[in-house]
Amino acid sequence: MADLLSKPLRLGVLGAANIARSFASGVAPSRTVSVAAVASRDAGKAERFAMECGIPRFHGSYEALLSDPEIDAIYNPLPNSLHAEWSIRAMEAGKHVLCEKPLAMNATEVRAMAATARRHGRHLVEAYPYRAQAQTLKLRELLDAGAIGKVQLIRSSFGVAFSDPSNIRLKPEVGGGALLDAGSYAVSLALLVAGARPERVSATARWSETGVDRSVAATLEFPSGALAQISCSFATAYHRHALIAGEAGTIETTYLNHPPLGGPPVLTIRRGTTVQSVPETIEVAPGNGFLAEAESFERLVRRGPEYWTGATLAESIDIAVTLDAILASARSGTAVSVAAEINT
Ligand SMILES: NC(=O)c1ccc[n+]([C@@H]2O[C@H](COP(=O)([O-])OP(=O)(O)OC[C@H]3O[C@@H](n4cnc5c(N)ncnc54)[C@H](OP(=O)(O)O)[C@@H]3O)[C@@H](O)[C@H]2O)c1
Repeated sequence: MADLLSKPLRLGVLGAANIARSFASGVAPSRTVSVAAVASRDAGKAERFAMECGIPRFHGSYEALLSDPEIDAIYNPLPNSLHAEWSIRAMEAGKHVLCEKPLAMNATEVRAMAATARRHGRHLVEAYPYRAQAQTLKLRELLDAGAIGKVQLIRSSFGVAFSDPSNIRLKPEVGGGALLDAGSYAVSLALLVAGARPERVSATARWSETGVDRSVAATLEFPSGALAQISCSFATAYHRHALIAGEAGTIETTYLNHPPLGGPPVLTIRRGTTVQSVPETIEVAPGNGFLAEAESFERLVRRGPEYWTGATLAESIDIAVTLDAILASARSGTAVSVAAEINT
């Protein structure tokens, strides 16, 4: 057993996805987790990807990866529409799963995945690298210590430009759309800060020619009385920012996955309630988010849930329920009530 734990946790990657390249290179320096194999629907593509990324083994089908006894866990960066199916198949094959965000297309799928994880005693978590970053760990520490008092307002946004119709993000049939892509980040940050799912959601969207949501703005009402405004877009210059306003101060964060170009990651805090309060910049340690996330996942699998810094499955269900409500509100033009979860 000790010998087993001294070896890295072996991850298999489902699909030669763009994000998997960055993930594999981020994780490469780790001594506790390794990317041990990749699978593609095309064996030649898998072989090229493995060579380019320094991955020792490859498979010409996803099924072959799931039956590989040399793999402990699966990293699932497939299009959103395939997250549920292949994460479930991976857990049924005995693998733990680190699945890209959004965990699935909707809350119904996320609940089915959670039920499979429980049934098979496997770990299943949603990949948000920013949750493993020092910047976010510091944010949580400040909020828990009451540094800005009771939170009343949250504003989180994430926008980026995508216009190539061949990108999976622009295709409705594979789960495209700004909300599930960038918006899942903005929503996850708001829920992390609020510590609960919202009770009510109102949203407005602009739609792309391909039929996916291109820009979304939403208001979330939390049981504590706090309000959040989230926005996301595929039609703007890159921006990623959150402002958290409490009764005794404010914190601003970029909730970055990876350190920014041109400087260290920081949080900005203003302590005090007046315009005279001086912004204080808190510098935090830089580090690759995929590496931090993968090592946190290894500790989750081998040591237990308290070592996982990311979203718990209950939080992932809350995120999915909120994303569902935002889309429903944007489509209907009316506010949507969000039911409390029973037995999750
Ligand atoms: N956490 C983050 O920061 C972050 C960043 C980017 C993306 N993501 C997430 O990662 C996932 C993948 O994004 P990506 O940009 O890396 O995608 P991508 O480059 O388009 O790769 C998706 C892969 O899925 C496989 N696939 C299977 N069925 C497919 C189908 N019908 N259409 C297209 N591809 C199919 C393909 O692999 P094979 O051909 O090899 O089988 C393809 O390479 C998404 O869920 C996205 O939200 C997360």
